[in-house]
Amino acid sequence: MKENLEIIYNRFNEDIKLVTDECSFNLVKVKFMGKNGLVNEALKLIKTISPSEKKTYGEEVNKLKTSIETRLENVKNDLERLEIENMITGAKIIDLTTPLGENIGSLHPITITQKKLVDIFENMGFYVEDGNEIESEYNNFEAVNIPKNHPARDMQDTFYLENNQVLKTHTSASQNRIMKKFGAPLKVIFPGRCFRNEELDAGHENTFFQLEGLMIDKNISIANLIYFMKTMLSKIFEKDIEVRLRPGFFPFVEPGFELDCKCIYCDGDGCSVCKQSGWIELCPCGMIHKSVLEMGGINSSEYRGFAFGLGLSRLAMMTFNIDDIRTLNSGKIAKLKQAKIK
Ligand code: DAH
Repeated sequence: MKENLEIIYNRFNEDIKLVTDECSFNLVKVKFMGKNGLVNEALKLIKTISPSEKKTYGEEVNKLKTSIETRLENVKNDLERLEIENMITGAKIIDLTTPLGENIGSLHPITITQKKLVDIFENMGFYVEDGNEIESEYNNFEAVNIPKNHPARDMQDTFYLENNQVLKTHTSASQNRIMKKFGAPLKVIFPGRCFRNEELDAGHENTFFQLEGLMIDKNISIANLIYFMKTMLSKIFEKDIEVRLRPGFFPFVEPGFELDCKCIYCDGDGCSVCKQSGWIELCPCGMIHKSVLEMGGINSSEYRGFAFGLGLSRLAMMTFNIDDIRTLNSGKIAKLKQAKIK
């Protein structure tokens, strides 16, 4: 009987030496410790032997069982460690000091401008929200006071999809959804890509970017609007910027304005960029129309707010000295590379 146990132990020692991976490990484990494995078979024999031998045999089998279990446990740990070591040495080491090739790419002027603006507004306590590129006709037009047959729709022709959705013509299309989502008070900006059927030229493109903002609270006035616009422009151009408001018509604001900034190139003296006027038209804005607030689920007798729709593409062109808006979507790397911050 005892010899039997010795044979099992020797066979185990032979087999375990050949283990190289999880698969061969499991085969050995089942062969010796499985339900019908050799150790269990040896244990079952206890019932068949004489009472005088039972005790010592039992002790011997249990000793065998424990030493096989311990050895299996050790081998398992070794295998796991080996696997981790292989993973580490096999992994590609990234050397941060390796010189990179010439064509590593860079952020697009629009992305850089948007990131800067997001940073500026976040620091002023504004939340940043995403806008859909496909919007319902209702959100794009009706919810911002542009009912069917309103002449303002002519200036914002776009693709109409069969399910009454449109490619959004302005970021204002997200106003209603965002007001309903957050309610008042609200301080939010939402940059986005817009689409219009345009006669293309250096200043008009069928796909362009805007950055819209809303601030709604109990005592909001035009003074708040001017303060935030002036601060934002001064931060983006990194100098104190003078602004002025002119009346402007947009159905979703009342009163509505065109916000101009003193020409940053000639300081108001008049140059080709500002067409000798000394001012650059930058940001249409206004006090949100009462019915737009109401359609957004906000009580207009309690809350007021301002809205603005900054031309992100326009601002990127100004800051990067790009003279043709079509460059932005052209994918012409050489041209985009020439764009340098002014
Ligand atoms: N949505 C307008 C457009 O694309 C721009 C605009 C004007 C946005 C006035 C505003 C605003 O939020 O108050 O022409």
